[in-house]
Amino acid sequence: MPDGFSVSVWRPQIFQMWPDGATSKNRLRMRMTMRWAMKPLRLFAAHRYRMLTIRHDSELAHYSGLTPRFWRFPFMDDRDLQIGDTWTAPRYRGQGIALRALRIILKTEYQPGRRFWYIVDAHNSQSIRVAEKAGFEPIADGTTITPLNIPMLWRYAILSHRRTSAAVSA
Ligand SMILES: CC(C)(COP(=O)(O)OP(=O)(O)OC[C@H]1O[C@@H](n2cnc3c(N)ncnc32)[C@H](O)[C@@H]1OP(=O)(O)O)[C@@H](O)C(=O)NCCC(=O)NCCS
Repeated sequence: MPDGFSVSVWRPQIFQMWPDGATSKNRLRMRMTMRWAMKPLRLFAAHRYRMLTIRHDSELAHYSGLTPRFWRFPFMDDRDLQIGDTWTAPRYRGQGIALRALRIILKTEYQPGRRFWYIVDAHNSQSIRVAEKAGFEPIADGTTITPLNIPMLWRYAILSHRRTSAAVSA
């Protein structure tokens, strides 16, 4: 990483709902509070969730969440990981930080047979570009569905496959 930047892995803990450096403006605080509250339920992947963070001095410049398989993403295998909630603070965008984060994750989280998933809105060209530069290829089109119209029950469904393999080499 360039001078002044540091990389670490953060996991939700009882007395730390969000990583150091997350300001009250970060959408991260709200999302992490939800995960923190759900952790004891075990219904969600919160107890295995972790996050790669990149700080510039003490400021949170980037985070990428890592989520193992759970019922919201039934197409994943047990050993797979989904990289999501990827975010770079506006003033650090366009400097290659998200790409570096993805490359670090693909390298450090590599396991034989593990597939990495990156779910992105079809209109999010910046995010798609980052994923493509990291070696991801589009393999399927999907959508979120909300059973019984209960927002908390949303899950992701694959509508059509473009390819049969989602493997990404680091
Ligand atoms: C998507 C996001 C994480 C990218 O972060 P980033 O650190 O700026 O990304 P990088 O600097 O690593 O960019 C890599 C590529 O993305 C593209 N890109 C990134 N920011 C861009 C911008 N502001 N304008 C145009 N292209 C951009 C560039 O093409 C770049 O490739 P290049 O090196 O060929 O120019 C960031 O824009 C973001 O936080 N967006 C809001 C949240 C979001 O949409 N997250 C993704 C959810 S799936």
